Amino acid sequence: MAELTTTIGGFHFNNTIMNGAGVWCYDRKELSAVDTSAAATFVTKTATLAPRAGNPKPRMAATDLGSINSMGLPNKGLDYYLQVVEEFHQANPEKPYFLSTTGTSPDDFGKIFTKIAASNFSGLVELNLSCPNVVGKPQIAYDFAAVERILTQVTGIYHGPLGVKLPPYFDLVHFQQIADVLNQFPLTFVNTINSVGNGLVIQDETAAIAPKGGLGGIGGGYIKPMALANVRVLRQLLKPEINIIGTGGVETGRDVFELILCGADMVGVATQLGKEGPKVFARLTEELTAIMDAKGYKRLSDFRGKLQVPE
Ligand code: DOR
Repeated sequence: MAELTTTIGGFHFNNTIMNGAGVWCYDRKELSAVDTSAAATFVTKTATLAPRAGNPKPRMAATDLGSINSMGLPNKGLDYYLQVVEEFHQANPEKPYFLSTTGTSPDDFGKIFTKIAASNFSGLVELNLSCPNVVGKPQIAYDFAAVERILTQVTGIYHGPLGVKLPPYFDLVHFQQIADVLNQFPLTFVNTINSVGNGLVIQDETAAIAPKGGLGGIGGGYIKPMALANVRVLRQLLKPEINIIGTGGVETGRDVFELILCGADMVGVATQLGKEGPKVFARLTEELTAIMDAKGYKRLSDFRGKLQVPE
């Protein structure tokens, strides 16, 4: 039977599917449910320096084709997630975990990474540069100079395994520009894509969510083609030592297969995890394994990055 082991920056995982930050990762209880599921590992909710309540409700809605959210980074604060991840690490020393974090002001990044560097944290940090939902704040990674500034500062302070969570790009010039910035830094991984920012879902005559006049990040099936393209093009443009976590639009094992075909080393699931709960990981694992078995693929490297394009 096909095996699904993978590595990110030298860390070994016994599966290639994990949660996407934001879903089933708010507190110890949710993280534990993912930890004990078939998932490879978990990433925490994006932690800010101080706890945040997030945006007013309703702030998330699921639709037949996906989801819209404007959560606004509700989270229990960096200290909480550092503590909880350390507890999981003590219980499972062989299993690497991801901590997601971001700043809500330019001063935050130095403080956050000084704190992480001084802690016992020994997993991988995912720096979220793509939240579309904090009122009055742009998605950082659409500002290439800001990304360069932040990564210069952060990599000067923190020398552990570090990745960035990116928004979707839609123009080949922008793919090249972000890759040129990221390739200057000793990054372990890139996670692409976050939700597609500032979409609008209407139910009857009313926006589905309240914050930002109804605008929010779109996830799920709607965004799979963008996720595939972002994984594919960034795999071609980034240094080979930067691994890729492909996130966006995963509903079936076939979707996982396609993200890996585009070059993903690990695959994140968010909207569908929200709809189905942590049992989704066992289903996706079975479906991916069945596809690989039918094609005679024994391991992920047999097809990773090997997308064919008609002549
Ligand atoms: O869609 C998202 N929602 N992406 C993020 O990065 C953060 C999250 C939120 O809390 O709004």
